[in-house]
Amino acid sequence: MSHLIAPSILSADFAAMGREVQAVTDAGADWIHVDVMDGHFVPVITLGPVMVEAIARHTTCVVDVHLMIEQPERHLEAFAKAGAQVITVHQETCPHLHMTLRTIRALGCKAGVSINPGTPLSAIDAVLGDVDLVLIMTVNPGWGGQSAIPSAIDKAAALRATLDRRAIEGVLIEVDGGVKVANADLFASADVLVAGSAVFKSDDYAATIAALRERAGGA
Ligand code: DX5
Ligand code: ZN
Repeated sequence: MSHLIAPSILSADFAAMGREVQAVTDAGADWIHVDVMDGHFVPVITLGPVMVEAIARHTTCVVDVHLMIEQPERHLEAFAKAGAQVITVHQETCPHLHMTLRTIRALGCKAGVSINPGTPLSAIDAVLGDVDLVLIMTVNPGWGGQSAIPSAIDKAAALRATLDRRAIEGVLIEVDGGVKVANADLFASADVLVAGSAVFKSDDYAATIAALRERAGGA
């Protein structure tokens, strides 16, 4: 199966967001990855449901919302109403993880769980049967343009092996942080590759998206 490419709008021109989202859509993106940060779970503040709603109007891609916020359960409905099709919460922010994931599905969205580079895969072992997606952070969340952490990259292959061993089907593995054309082959065991700076800081979005897909091994 060909890898899905999800440009992260964190590295786009925020003053031209509609045009940027349309451009990556036309350039062959599969998903649009939207990074929501609250200034608490991560130091940075980015955007909220209002921007998600605006983005959704400019794309036919799947709108993939990555919530790097504390108490995400307070905002799930607003993001679902804004047009999110995938909503991912961090394991580190959810004391009642099953319930939060169930709420996301009840809102009609795919439910994702994410772990930081310092969080072991075992932290999400109990919910693997209850998610549609696992987002492996390969950098510490907060900023685009960082280098992927090798031990975090390894988790994608380890998770694939665990899913196979436990015969759990239908869970997508997404990787996020430091994905470049030059290293995309390291992420071959993932299904969805998030790429922020690699796409939006390139001169040719279509060529970069195609190269990411090809280098990851699914073209
Ligand atoms: C980081 C975000 C990422 C970020 C990736 O906290 O979750 O989605 O945009 O940026 P790159 O691809 O530049 O590492
Ligand atoms: Zn992200």
